[in-house]
Amino acid sequence: MSDAYTGRGNKDRSITKESTSDMVPGPQHGQAHPAPGGPFLIGENMTGGYGNGPDILHDCTIAVDRGEIAVIVGPNGAGKSTGMKALFGMLNVRAGQVRLDGEDITELSPQDRVQKGMGFVPQNNNIFTSMTVEENLEMGAFIRTDDISGTMAQVYDLFPILKEKRNQFAGELSGGQRQQVAVGRALMTKPKVLMLDEPTAGVSPIVMDELFDRIIEVARTGLPVLMVEQNARQALEIADKGYVLVQGANSHTGTGKELLADPDVRRSFLGG
Ligand SMILES: Nc1ncnc2c1ncn2[C@@H]1O[C@H](COP(=O)(O)OP(=O)(O)O)[C@@H](O)[C@H]1O
Ligand SMILES: [Mg+2]
Repeated sequence: MSDAYTGRGNKDRSITKESTSDMVPGPQHGQAHPAPGGPFLIGENMTGGYGNGPDILHDCTIAVDRGEIAVIVGPNGAGKSTGMKALFGMLNVRAGQVRLDGEDITELSPQDRVQKGMGFVPQNNNIFTSMTVEENLEMGAFIRTDDISGTMAQVYDLFPILKEKRNQFAGELSGGQRQQVAVGRALMTKPKVLMLDEPTAGVSPIVMDELFDRIIEVARTGLPVLMVEQNARQALEIADKGYVLVQGANSHTGTGKELLADPDVRRSFLGG
């Protein structure tokens, strides 16, 4: 097994503890245990790039397990977003494998991965600015044929400001509120794993803290969260597992605590 994903989270019960929320019903509810055959979602030894272009990822492994928050950090252009896109099926993965709950999904389209339970909030253009907040949430539920009102109520419970602004155009909202719309939209599919690419980009430190609190709340329901963050220190503080990527490859992997304490990581990526 690759040492890139043997670090098994810090078992911080504040993150993995049982929750009364029913955002994610099912037998895995609130439990932190490895999926049979490895982590719940893993891109293992991924090598690949865009179209026929050069490889951007080099033997890169990223994973998140049930009950965990996993965080990807690293310099600009390191391939963090590319790694997320590879997991989501938007990259030509030439070597390696992506598995969800033990199933090889390497060849599936992004649409099929959504059907399988992957919720992805990309770094850019992650909301429909000319639609209302509520329309954005409805769009998020496009794959569902069942009643979505319960999930929408849960999203409004998580992000009360969105309920208040449900009839406003999403483009009129602040940066932090737009990110709430984007996360809410992904939750509307009732995903089994949530992937967030820089959910706090461009927001103030206070709004960042609030967004992190909401993300922890989501993770406590048992929904595994994999996110890319440029606020490395703060993100690693809430991470069960952290990945430092450099030039498309794994540079350091460990629990959030381990990485925060690693002198090399501190010096190179956390400003000392
Ligand atoms: N759509 C694309 N087509 C070709 N190259 C891309 C594309 N998106 C990103 N890249 C390249 O991939 C590398 C990694 O980018 P990215 O994954 O966005 O980094 P990060 O998210 O860590 O800042 C960069 O060299 C970037 O120029
Ligand atoms: Mg990026």
